[in-house]
Amino acid sequence: MQNLNLTDHKAANEEELARQKEFLEKAGMYVRELASELGRTPTFHVTNFGCQMNAKDAEKLAGILASAGFSEIEEESADFVIYNTCTVRDNADQHFYGRLGRASHFKKSNPRMKIAVCGCMMQEKTNVEKLKKSYPYVDLIFGTHNLFRFPEYLCRVYENAQKYPRSASARRIVDVWEKTDLIVEDLPAERKYAYKSGVNIMFGCDNFCTYCIVPYVRGRERSRSPREILREVTRLAQDGVVEVMLLGQNVNSYGKDLEEPLSFAELLESVCKVPGIERVRFMTPHPKDISEELIQVIKRNPKAARHIHFPLQSGSDRILKLMNRRYSRDEYMEKALHIREEIPDVAITTDIIAGFPTETPADVDDTIDVIRKVGFDNAYTFIYSVRTGTPAARMEQVPEEEAKKGFDRILAAVQETAKQQTLLLQGRTMCALIEEENAQLDGYVSGRLSNNTIVHVPGDASMIGKFYDVSLDDCRGFYYFGKALKERSGEVG
Ligand code: 5AD
Ligand code: SF4
Repeated sequence: MQNLNLTDHKAANEEELARQKEFLEKAGMYVRELASELGRTPTFHVTNFGCQMNAKDAEKLAGILASAGFSEIEEESADFVIYNTCTVRDNADQHFYGRLGRASHFKKSNPRMKIAVCGCMMQEKTNVEKLKKSYPYVDLIFGTHNLFRFPEYLCRVYENAQKYPRSASARRIVDVWEKTDLIVEDLPAERKYAYKSGVNIMFGCDNFCTYCIVPYVRGRERSRSPREILREVTRLAQDGVVEVMLLGQNVNSYGKDLEEPLSFAELLESVCKVPGIERVRFMTPHPKDISEELIQVIKRNPKAARHIHFPLQSGSDRILKLMNRRYSRDEYMEKALHIREEIPDVAITTDIIAGFPTETPADVDDTIDVIRKVGFDNAYTFIYSVRTGTPAARMEQVPEEEAKKGFDRILAAVQETAKQQTLLLQGRTMCALIEEENAQLDGYVSGRLSNNTIVHVPGDASMIGKFYDVSLDDCRGFYYFGKALKERSGEVG
């Protein structure tokens, strides 16, 4: 698969799609058989862990299961349960094993139940070995590169159940690939929201930040063709979607591997032009690669969200070097402040890791200094988690209590700037996309501003998926309480 040219790639992708569609029909037959044995429609549940890319994959898994004839339920005791795993930090791994342990009880009371595990953790041999040894009731294991083969695996799971009724190890299917060049489009997906959707623009990451497992489990960077991306966005818009989020681990690298290279900024501008799409978000740019071209595209396109998630990771030059981030604190701050100057009302959010190997309180001071100077609108803060096989795992580790102290100081600094930033817009009227009914407050709905901040307003389900002018009356930390003044028509901003 390595040296295919573009035409061969396209043919290989289409051939694979045709094969998987045949398997999907065959899977439908097994599901009908199961339905007559059970005397009801068989059910499925997808348990998802991790990032937006995984959430998108979970929609594909759900789409395939629904097309095969299963119906989705909320409970993890369904007839087919699949865990889409994340391995970015150790707590995600632990969480998964806890949930999988519980699934064995469900299987005891429903012997026809099938359990599948896929996603990033399965790209690590130790996890696959652990499942084979200690979790014999898992029927199917596959990785991130071959998710598109799920219809085929689904058939084989039911075939094997008939062929090997007495041997769990003979029945079990394990297929994990180290890489792939295939990008198989157009298998069914079941979208979680009617009005918004993620759209993959590229897969993988070539950055090799020293703490990060992603390049090892998601593989090298591969861009989807702009034609395919625009086709998907157009179809989503025709289906009622008003907001898309362009997804990639490192979106600034988009297009470099295409036969006719196209920049991420050019792609973003084309997506903003798709009729019916009112807001375009993206995740995640790397600070070293953010271009002036991209900043200008956002500036001149009101549909491009006023939000840039801009992962800092650390504000210490020494730690940034050890992390292989390839920018200095000054370069980072210069870019962030330039973005603020160029794009009024933009929110800048970030990711920060506390307790990276060798980090001292003075390094944490440097990070806090950057937090204050940039004035982050929000941040995800993490305690460093050792990932076996990454270079940072072999560096001198920081004691847990030191890491926790740094984490607490960083969190307090971020909470302070987030509150200051949110207060800046208090009293203004801005446009929000109403997303859902408020789970805690009866008679309220929650919406999101272009800058990603949440606002809660009195309202009902009929407002979901529509844009409203809302007054930002009362700032409560990272969000507002306000009122919906009127529904927007025309350009939303
Ligand atoms: N430990 C802690 N946080 C990590 N991240 C990635 N790898 C690790 C790790 N080993 C964080 C980074 C990244 C976010 C998605 O997860 O901040 O931006
Ligand atoms: Fe991981 Fe760095 Fe790639 Fe982000 S850019 S996925 S942190 S290696």
